[in-house]
Amino acid sequence: MRSTPIARHLLPDSATVDASGMLCVGGIRLDELADSFGTPLFVYDEDHLRARCREARQAWGDGVAYASKAFLCIAMARLVHQEGLRLDVASEGEMHVAIKAGVPPSSLVLHGNNKSDSEIASALSYGVGRMVVDSFDEIHRIEEIVSKMDGPGRSPQALMVRINPGIEAHTHEYVRTGQADSKFGFSIDNGDALSAARRIIQMKGVELAGLHAHIGSQIFDVGHFEEEVKLLVGLAGELAGDVGAEMGGLPGSGGAGESFGACDPGGFELCIGGGLGVAYLSDESAPTISRWAQAVSQVAGESGGDPRLRITAEPGRAIVAVAGMTLYTVGTVKDIAGIRTYLSVDGGMSDNPRPVLYGSGYEAFLAREAYAERSRRVRIVGEHCESGDIVVADAMVPADVSVGDLLVTPVTGAYGYSMASNYNKVPRPAVVWVSSGGAKVVVRRESLDDMCRLDAG
Ligand code: LLP
Repeated sequence: MRSTPIARHLLPDSATVDASGMLCVGGIRLDELADSFGTPLFVYDEDHLRARCREARQAWGDGVAYASKAFLCIAMARLVHQEGLRLDVASEGEMHVAIKAGVPPSSLVLHGNNKSDSEIASALSYGVGRMVVDSFDEIHRIEEIVSKMDGPGRSPQALMVRINPGIEAHTHEYVRTGQADSKFGFSIDNGDALSAARRIIQMKGVELAGLHAHIGSQIFDVGHFEEEVKLLVGLAGELAGDVGAEMGGLPGSGGAGESFGACDPGGFELCIGGGLGVAYLSDESAPTISRWAQAVSQVAGESGGDPRLRITAEPGRAIVAVAGMTLYTVGTVKDIAGIRTYLSVDGGMSDNPRPVLYGSGYEAFLAREAYAERSRRVRIVGEHCESGDIVVADAMVPADVSVGDLLVTPVTGAYGYSMASNYNKVPRPAVVWVSSGGAKVVVRRESLDDMCRLDAG
């Protein structure tokens, strides 16, 4: 039985405990945040977000993107852009938020296994930095739409081909994407990946800027990414050889064009996607972004790829997960003798569906005694009308937990707010960023009236 205090590595960089035992983030006590903004509340350490973006930029260099699906709002899109990362957007909606935030379209990378005509057309007219092509149907659609838009002076749209590398990463099956049986990408094994790349090379109005793969999410073993990059380097080599005449060879390979297509001077891009895992539980530990990049780049170098191939990535979770935490108020303590104790909080599956979807585990602690021993085993549940509405199935909390306590689940910065819903017409929480003693609301709390805002009458 665990009876240890919460582990430091699950808390944002700026977390401290004041003399009374209260956790502070960004120099502000959590109880003050709860008093000012209410609960449930998402609290992010802005400096932590910036530090992880800088680490990613430093480790991967030019072209690294933040996978915005992990957490996106206007402030986040701006922060990521200010820190020099591109933004991976996987829908028209994510693209719209990024553009509204003022991110230049050239810094966007558009994904999607079923991009609509309107999505493709708006990406082309914005001139997004990259479109990652996922299927032959999409290639066909792009060809048609480009042919209607093409005019003199229009620069070719940079495309990347999404490769399915056939790698089964050790993670939850719902967030595994690189195995052969997947809706994503072109298989290397059956030759589709090469055919798709060749077809794009021959198309008018577009250019092949690189290859992309993503093997899944919440992966701790960097060996999977090493395996992935080897496959990408191998495929780039095959492409350079097979289509050297049209392409001018890989950059620096002496080919006529001195570039792989007309992509930017940084060279032909091989993006390994996102997927780096983070620790959610005290006894877990994950590789840092720097370690991940170093391991992958080293293997890419050893795989005999052209040194001017640009290896990039698009982490989501590793940038935002630990920066964020959720504050709840304990509303009910129900002790069923001989069975278990239920702590009900004022949120649940509507602000964090991950436990229900993936059986994900979290830790919990009380804001007022952040580093206290946690000796009482409880089940933390939400306020929704389902028994599956579990926040932490098997949590250890301080023995004196009681109604009115401010309870914190750390590491909720990724795929929490972004997957939140209005189930049971529960308004979504506010999102607050803290830094150097200041707090700002970056997403306001929904009101009860918001629960009817889409109703037609
Ligand atoms: N790139 C692509 C193409 C992706 O599909 C994803 C995530 C990422 C990058 C970022 O992956 P990350 O670094 O965040 O692992 N809702 C799930 C995670 C789904 C991930 C989907 N794709 C969860 O809560 O665990």
